[in-house]
Amino acid sequence: MAFPNGFLWGGAFAANQVEGAFDAGGKGLSTADIFPRGDRKSGGVFYRTYKQILEASADKDDRKYPKRRGIDFYHRYKEDIALFAQMGFKALRFSFSWSRIFPQGDEETPNQEGLRFYRDMIDELKRYGITPIITLSHFEMPLHLVLKYNGWTDRRVIEYYLRYAKTMVDEFHDDIRYWITFNEIDATLHIPLIGAGMVIEKTEDPEKAKYQALHHQFVASSLLTKYVHQTYPDLKVGCMSTKNLKYPATCKPEDCMQWLYETQMDAACTDVQVFGEYPYVWKKMWEEKGNGPLISEEDRRVMKENTVDFVSFSYYASLVTSAEGSQKEKTSANLLVGEKNPYLKQTPWGWQIDPVGLRFSLNQMYDRYKLPMFVAENGLGTLDVLENGTVNDEYRIDYLRSHIGEMKKAIDDGVPVFGYTYWGCIDCISASTSEMSKRYGFIYVDQDDEGNGTLKRYPKKSFDWYRKVIASNGEDLR
Ligand code: BG6
Repeated sequence: MAFPNGFLWGGAFAANQVEGAFDAGGKGLSTADIFPRGDRKSGGVFYRTYKQILEASADKDDRKYPKRRGIDFYHRYKEDIALFAQMGFKALRFSFSWSRIFPQGDEETPNQEGLRFYRDMIDELKRYGITPIITLSHFEMPLHLVLKYNGWTDRRVIEYYLRYAKTMVDEFHDDIRYWITFNEIDATLHIPLIGAGMVIEKTEDPEKAKYQALHHQFVASSLLTKYVHQTYPDLKVGCMSTKNLKYPATCKPEDCMQWLYETQMDAACTDVQVFGEYPYVWKKMWEEKGNGPLISEEDRRVMKENTVDFVSFSYYASLVTSAEGSQKEKTSANLLVGEKNPYLKQTPWGWQIDPVGLRFSLNQMYDRYKLPMFVAENGLGTLDVLENGTVNDEYRIDYLRSHIGEMKKAIDDGVPVFGYTYWGCIDCISASTSEMSKRYGFIYVDQDDEGNGTLKRYPKKSFDWYRKVIASNGEDLR
């Protein structure tokens, strides 16, 4: 079986990694604007103390904080969208910057200039017939909400998010069918400042506070889903989590038991948004550790009655787990660290490349959720060299060929996948390390880690390869 007609081939990125213009058009500072650069050896920068956040917010030097400048998509979106159209994109998954619309987060009315920017950008996408797929909150929130409320730990943030999200849905419901309420909602548990605007030192019990912040996001997501379903019944709302695929190290029953437990824990966020209730593994953990969130009866009802229409996820790499994990060699995979798999190669950032894992994940998740599936992120972040005006990125083509091939097998297995948006379709600032040199794109952007460069765009070899894939609706993977 081939890919279904109307399959949404395209690319993805987040506002804070591409737009730049961090203080233009009335935008307020966001959590993304306060992270300095990490690197491949020392890893991502995920934590900041309250003092560091205050210092960064008073610091006007945008060189120190790469996401403030992004790749200047804010001023170059027409050129970039024209390049996506040349590749034949059917869809672009991107996020709105919350602090471009509500600069502080708790004001009553939106910033019209921010709305105008997205209106113009969406009109440009429409001109080329590219379907926008929106993420309302992708690793950033107005910094004021962090400083005043400690982010999502405070229940009042539900109201502010809903004000922002409803503003966007009301404004763009005619043009946008697919809405994702939160990017990688599970990130709150791993990187709480990025995922939930939560400063650890400002909480009494960090573990409890993380679950509380997550609970508030689940409630907000359900309340928005309710609003969308009641007001615009044709629109679809989806959840989005990191697919942290793991394999058991051996067939030893203890290893398989450990694998089962971690797999259930990793599925929990999507479980909540699809089934409308918390899984027993979390309830049991909260009971034992006493770190469960406060949940009202009304919250339970709202969550149960307003579940999502589709399931989306990011998938980059897989890991291994075992009962004696602590003694094994470790590597990272997006938000997690786990054991290495001797059968897989890895990127320079240690992410293990596992195309079969995409087929595995699609089957595993569809088997559990029985909802339409969307691959919101997948991609290869690595070092590229620009030579003679292009990048000979055969390695990226290999990555794509094998992953798209496995996705096709999953569709043949019977999984209803309706779209695939390759992550970082144009080189952008890395979420974890804020590096520019961790490149994913089909389009090279001339900018280095220090922010030097012309910002000129150069199609890589993969650009033409992906164009052929889209033109043949996934048939031509040569
Ligand atoms: C996902 C995020 O976790 O992974 C993206 O949703 C991110 O924002 C992507 O960019 C790749 O991670 P990184 O750290 O390589 O940019």
